[in-house]
Amino acid sequence: ALETQTKTVVGQFDYSDEDVNKGVVEFLRQMAEGLEKDGASMSQIPTYVTAVPNGTEKGLYMAVDLGGTNFRVCSIQLNGDTTFRLTYTKVAIPRELMVAKTAEELFAFLAKQVEIFLRTHHGEHFEAHIRRRMTMSSPEGFKDENVFRLGFTFSFPVQQLGINKGTLIRWTKGFDIPDAVGKDVCALLQTEIDKLHLPVKVAALVNDTVGTLMARSYSSPGKSGAILGAIFGTGTNGAYVEKLSNIKKPLAGEYDNSTGEMVINTEWGSFDNQLKVLPNTPWDVQLDLATPNPGIQMYEKRVSGMYLGEILRLTVIDLLKNPDVALFKDDNSSYNDWKSTTNIAEHSPIYKQWGLDTSVLSVAAADSTPELSILRQELEANLHIYAPSLEDAQAFKAIAGAIGRRAARLSAVAIAAIVLQTGKLNDPEQDEPIDIGVDGSLVEHYPYFRDMIYEALRAIKGIGEEGAKRIRIGIAKDGSGVGAALIALVAARMEKSTS
Ligand code: BG6
Ligand code: GLC
Repeated sequence: ALETQTKTVVGQFDYSDEDVNKGVVEFLRQMAEGLEKDGASMSQIPTYVTAVPNGTEKGLYMAVDLGGTNFRVCSIQLNGDTTFRLTYTKVAIPRELMVAKTAEELFAFLAKQVEIFLRTHHGEHFEAHIRRRMTMSSPEGFKDENVFRLGFTFSFPVQQLGINKGTLIRWTKGFDIPDAVGKDVCALLQTEIDKLHLPVKVAALVNDTVGTLMARSYSSPGKSGAILGAIFGTGTNGAYVEKLSNIKKPLAGEYDNSTGEMVINTEWGSFDNQLKVLPNTPWDVQLDLATPNPGIQMYEKRVSGMYLGEILRLTVIDLLKNPDVALFKDDNSSYNDWKSTTNIAEHSPIYKQWGLDTSVLSVAAADSTPELSILRQELEANLHIYAPSLEDAQAFKAIAGAIGRRAARLSAVAIAAIVLQTGKLNDPEQDEPIDIGVDGSLVEHYPYFRDMIYEALRAIKGIGEEGAKRIRIGIAKDGSGVGAALIALVAARMEKSTS
């Protein structure tokens, strides 16, 4: 019965070539809708960034990055020859701050991390600043060059009002601080930085996907730059270069229109919230209902790292509850309640909401030993399952693999739609590979994620074998820090040209 049940579950995560193709058509339609009006499922946010860098940019900048799981603070020395030097620290965001009462609590924590970073890595600069402060009467007296320009990577949907101004549309990825919604997140950060008297000016506001796109263009070989920056991590999203003439909704802010293009933050995590084409298993339904944002980010909830472990956990729980299925069960147990029939310790993360980390899926996918000994060890050591059998591990691996594979094939839908939207496959001037920068824990650590994306791309109408060969998907490691620095640089130039 275990084998049959496993097959049934695995089958529910099938996402066929035909599904993929339907997905692409709908994705293109929803992209167009988002370019036409506000309030569409995909926000298609204009970023007012109208050019991608070419590798010659120079200077020392700071960046902070509120991504989802971690908060990073970094300084970036851009060398102007496509290389850079990055110094950074990373702290996990305390869970309680993700659901804090006030925005101030979260942003005060962020500012404090900036202070710690400056003292640790730029002590001299910091001390000099303090000395100047003490000898000068007004902060206006500071020389501008003594102040660090900071690019703020804030990886949530923001209505961008200018290069360093934007209001939070909604939280995603488990954050829930209603007080912050509608507020300018740059101002929130600057206020807390000023309370600590730090020599830092929040100069640019950047989504992580935009940062990834910038960073990939700075360091990737080739003259034309990347067309798409995408994150497959805790959440998923993409930013791409769109023709200004395709952006039909009004643009409020100022921008330089000489390139005829603008970077658009798609917020594709909310693709098809209506579930017209997205798959919807009973576990997808359960998962959604247990989040703080039911009905929203429906694509993200099927693709990204924050959710895959939980989908797997919910399927496993269903099998455990089924008295006819021998998964992680002890034959001799007497039946009191379903938990007492399993071989799983009471304190196992299997029993806790969000208990399964997506890294378990990676372990399962990576283990190709005949006895699945690595996975079984993981199940025993971290999931507290007592002596899992080979059959147990096989079932677990098959289901985990199906969830990961569906995520990768869904990812191909977004990538393909954007490639098609740019028209680059039919552009006679496009003689270089069509370059895409990606980042995030899933694409970085889940085995064969990119291979599974390519496999789906080959089956897509308008791409095919030949098209897939021309698409180059490359990791843009720590992309958004560097990208934020690049945009801070652009902002500094803009300031100079207007003052
Ligand atoms: C990091 C980027 O490398 O990847 C972040 O610097 C981004 O900006 C992150 O948010 C995404 O990955 P994850 O897995 O941390 O969500
Ligand atoms: C979520 C956020 C989005 C971000 C993505 C990846 O989808 O809404 O802004 O880019 O996660 O971190």
